[in-house]
Amino acid sequence: MRFDVLTIFPEFYESPLRASILGRALDAGQVSCHVHNIRDWATGKHQCTDDTPYGGGGGMVMLAEPLLKSIRAVRAEAEHALGQRPPLVYLSPQGRPLDRDLVAELAALPGMLLLCAAYEGIDERVVELEIDREVSIGDYVLTSGDPAALVLLNAVARRIEGVLGNPGSAPADSFEDGLLDFPHYTRPETIEGLSVPPVLLSGHHANVAVWRRRQQLERTAKRRPDLLLRAPLTDADRRWLKQHNLWPGNADLPIGKKPNPGSSVPESEDAPPC
Ligand code: ADE
Repeated sequence: MRFDVLTIFPEFYESPLRASILGRALDAGQVSCHVHNIRDWATGKHQCTDDTPYGGGGGMVMLAEPLLKSIRAVRAEAEHALGQRPPLVYLSPQGRPLDRDLVAELAALPGMLLLCAAYEGIDERVVELEIDREVSIGDYVLTSGDPAALVLLNAVARRIEGVLGNPGSAPADSFEDGLLDFPHYTRPETIEGLSVPPVLLSGHHANVAVWRRRQQLERTAKRRPDLLLRAPLTDADRRWLKQHNLWPGNADLPIGKKPNPGSSVPESEDAPPC
């Protein structure tokens, strides 16, 4: 997958792109990331990329001209390399919230351009003329779109085949089955008086699976009841939640609804007491 980032802070990407799994994926050629400085397309002695807003008010707005020139030049270069026109994703608090579904959609593309704004944003005509998607990473405002671009890049890149060392780890992630992740433990068995739950030491795989599922259900019910209402649950899940007073609010308990055919939910009713 090819990413082309358009920014006025290219130095922002130096270390994050070199570190960790993303750095390895870049070295291995599974992902490529080309960072372009919008200022290179700005004219005048000071190569300005922003100006005061029409209508007054505080802050500065990024100029349409260097943005349009940089977008068109970079898109042509990326299109030539990919053999198809990559979409331009603009990172902004006004965009579609980034979630698992959107990450999966973006990960299916061969490449994309990521446009990062600073200040109050960009001239709206650039949005009208060139932007294909507007994406937000949350309901708060960052000093620029660059941290958001790194979040998107990281979340999308880790879904690409071969990027994660262990191919089994992605499907078990939080959100992949609509629920939060279960807790994880490694050596030692006891630390500062806290022991690993005995079921994880039992070697009984079915019981481990049921324990993990129930941990997911409990965590999701307590921390993100909104997710639980949308998650593909089995009847056994719902019964267990109800028995443990974990079903969110006064919502109906839709027992009898078909579970997601893809889910590998353990159905055992005589699982270990949790
Ligand atoms: N730029 C500034 N704030 C942002 C946010 N929350 N998401 C994406 N881009 C942004």
